[in-house]
Amino acid sequence: MPLNTNQKIQEIIKTMTGKLAHTLQGKTFDTPPIWLMRQAGRYLPEYLATRSTAGNFLNLCYTPTLASEVTLQPIRRFNFDAAILFSDILVIPHAMGQHLEFAANHGPILGELPDLDTIDLSKFHVNLSPVYETVSIIRKQLNNEGFSSTDLIGFSGAPWTLACYMIDRKGTKDFNETRTMALSQPEIFSKLIDLLTQAATEYLTQQILHGANIIQIFDSWAGVLPPDQFRKWVIAPTKKIITNLHHQFPHIPVIGFPKGASFLYAEYARETAVTCLGLDTQVPPEYAAKNLQTICPVQGNLDPMTLKAGGKELKHQILKIIENFKGKPYVFNLGHGIDKDTPPAHIKQLIKIIKESGINHD
Ligand code: CP3
Repeated sequence: MPLNTNQKIQEIIKTMTGKLAHTLQGKTFDTPPIWLMRQAGRYLPEYLATRSTAGNFLNLCYTPTLASEVTLQPIRRFNFDAAILFSDILVIPHAMGQHLEFAANHGPILGELPDLDTIDLSKFHVNLSPVYETVSIIRKQLNNEGFSSTDLIGFSGAPWTLACYMIDRKGTKDFNETRTMALSQPEIFSKLIDLLTQAATEYLTQQILHGANIIQIFDSWAGVLPPDQFRKWVIAPTKKIITNLHHQFPHIPVIGFPKGASFLYAEYARETAVTCLGLDTQVPPEYAAKNLQTICPVQGNLDPMTLKAGGKELKHQILKIIENFKGKPYVFNLGHGIDKDTPPAHIKQLIKIIKESGINHD
């Protein structure tokens, strides 16, 4: 480790002053901290303008001044409690040498899986250096613009979800090719998962060293696996990443989002020792309050379509989440990313309802 690492860690711990960081360390407030997955994105006209300056989505991810600009946009508009690094989980396979493109109005398309024996992680970090620079710029810009108590979330895809895209090479409903390979070629698949575990750990370490004070691990396709496979490819690698990060940075909270984990959410939380559990839209808040929030703080889980639709049902569902989770640490968020056709006015409404709940109920 470089000599100044310890000093840097001290600086980071000092910046851990935000409401989100405090909540994840066990504190409760009158109202929960709020941020939204995909809070920087196509529902904001200013995002579309910056993306067109960048030319395309990947250029946007790799241009630190523009990526930091789109990270700040939702903070300026809504004053969320946390900014999340603007990037994508798929920059990891890209930095490992796998071709990646985002065709307009299509999901990601990846090239052939690279030869695992030729992947060089030192080159990987050089390829990802614009992302690390983006993290530093975001932290500085937040402080310069009066958001010094806004937390900064760094993130990575979990090894399983990254492997899904690397093997199926596009988004699918069930990632059957990946699941088949995991069963029929377990040695090669294990090698890929180990490599991704190491890459994600190092990638997140760099994000923390550049100023991220909270981490989220996105395992968007955890829910396609049956229990024994889930334990092997979701829980075990995630546990390794978290153990390693917490060994280096005991105070950095890690939010795990094993989307679709269903009956395995509780086991995931206990086994990985994640600081906070991101809940998808299908987890009933009353179930989560009794069975998951007793293990660790939870985050979620409003349906993005409810936010997009707005109106009375939006208020009803927000209050239901608050009623169930209040009194113990929790983070208000969606159960998946914001839909691109969400009216920004609905987000203003969401924030107003949450703030007023503190006046009316506590
Ligand atoms: O604001 C934020 O939340 C930070 C930025 C962020 C993006 N992607 C930007 C993005 C984050 C944290 C992600 C995570 C991500 N990326 C996940 C995990 C979360 C989830 O959604 O399940 C996954 C699976 C991906 C892979 C990915 N990136 C897909 C499947 C797609 C296409 C689908 C879509 O929504 O368009 C993307 C593209 C993407 N990533 C966009 C954004 C803002 C849209 C690109 C555009 O501007 O055209």
